[in-house]
Amino acid sequence: MKLKKNIFSDWIDKSIIDSSSIKYKDSNIVKISCMKKNIKYLPSLSRLNDYVTKKIFGKKINTVAEFFLHECIDTETPDSYEDTKFHIDRYLPCLKIIYTPNKINEASAPFGFIKKTHKLNNEFMRNFTLNSKKFFIDDEHLTLDLKNNEVSTICPENSLIISFTNGFHKRNIFLKKNVRKMIFFQFTNNFNFFSLLNYKKYN
Ligand SMILES: [Fe+2]
Repeated sequence: MKLKKNIFSDWIDKSIIDSSSIKYKDSNIVKISCMKKNIKYLPSLSRLNDYVTKKIFGKKINTVAEFFLHECIDTETPDSYEDTKFHIDRYLPCLKIIYTPNKINEASAPFGFIKKTHKLNNEFMRNFTLNSKKFFIDDEHLTLDLKNNEVSTICPENSLIISFTNGFHKRNIFLKKNVRKMIFFQFTNNFNFFSLLNYKKYN
């Protein structure tokens, strides 16, 4: 009964956000739809969110659950979109907690990451951030060391992916027409300039 109540709980806004029209402009190869829900309707994920944010920010940070549907409607190629190339996010904080109810395999656009590139003392990343005019890196510019540290988050159903997206990350392309369903927890709207001044609250 409780589960039923949670599944049919209210959305924050009943209209579906067409994220692809903002992110991918006129291209219609992958369609992204988003709806948001109060995290209180997802008690297990809410507890995980509390645990992770307490560890990382020093206090629990509440956020909304963003339900994302990535729908591949035509054959995708590596250069169809920029977010399928390794790139860095510039907003802060760039912690992403992603829940996948379904199994993710190589064909279903797994999240990709290059290990250690989120670290502030990473020499390659320091140079990239200071000198690159763009936020993404073409595959041919990846060093052997970066290539060796590339991972794809292929995972079973009911998995949690936690990432700092100031490191190189991407959405791998869909290898066949498919739908990827994920719930994202992000924290950019929870912080502002005053959070920096109040840094002791978070330590
Ligand atoms: Fe990104």
